[in-house]
Amino acid sequence: MRSLIDILDLSTEEIDSLIHTAIDIINYPEKYSNMCRGKKLATLFFEPSTRTRLSFEAAMYELGGNVIGFSEANSSSSAKGESVADTAKTVSCYADIIAMRHPKEGAPLVASKNATIPVINAGDGGHNHPTQTLADLLTVYREKGGFGGFTVGFCGDLKFGRTVHSLINALSRYKDINVVLISPEELMLPGYVKTDVLLKNGIPFEETTDLEAAMPKLDILYMTRVQRERFFNEEDYLRLKDSYILTPDKLKDAKDDLCIMHPLPRVNEISVAIDSDPRACYFKQVLNGKYMRMALILMLLKEAGK
Ligand code: NCD
Repeated sequence: MRSLIDILDLSTEEIDSLIHTAIDIINYPEKYSNMCRGKKLATLFFEPSTRTRLSFEAAMYELGGNVIGFSEANSSSSAKGESVADTAKTVSCYADIIAMRHPKEGAPLVASKNATIPVINAGDGGHNHPTQTLADLLTVYREKGGFGGFTVGFCGDLKFGRTVHSLINALSRYKDINVVLISPEELMLPGYVKTDVLLKNGIPFEETTDLEAAMPKLDILYMTRVQRERFFNEEDYLRLKDSYILTPDKLKDAKDDLCIMHPLPRVNEISVAIDSDPRACYFKQVLNGKYMRMALILMLLKEAGK
């Protein structure tokens, strides 16, 4: 059974095809409005979410399907000690496809090995978040016209930020991309992502703590929130949380066609004064996420013969 656990589960051709489907959905939504009639998506969210869960649900409704699920661990039998494997087997009896978010890295993988329906990883701990990456890729495609010939800066919590890990994995398969990693020393990109992804694929990258110095060379700036829920102590979080705050004056040396991205939610990292700047793309990402999730649901249900 085909699931989506890691963004690399999709080939670059499949990503192209999802992008083309998403663009077709944007142009001809009525063509798709009945495609999932009678089908059910189960959203199993063991961790907080606004965009990911609601965009999956909106996606399924816009395809004419239905949604069941829960939005917190405490309202499910996991609070009684049920395993992820048993939850996945159970939900397979009710639904056609699962979207699962879980604080434990690898939980959606375990679910996929036990479910008899496709499982989509909607975020597992500080590990991966492949459907946010699909939203990010459609945004880059629409703003930059493709994947290559640009310098992308990742800024903030690169250690725990799962959206960063997945997007770096996805971009590593394209040519002519430069990466600038901007973070406090304590929140640098994990060594395994540097060696297994950037170095292995020959992607030129540099590491810095200085956002303003990096700004002039960036075509894309991917800001992230410091991931409070992954810290072992609150003091470290409080010390690091405001490491980077993007304000209009910090953009004075930025390119005119810079694309400012953020997976959201933002806390303090981007001043609301940036929202009206035409370079702000983070709410475009939100909308693009819904279209890519529609395309993904269609693809996985088709492959599952549903
Ligand atoms: C991200 C996540 O959950 O990893 N949010 C999202 O799904 N758009 C980013 C974050 O929580 O900081």
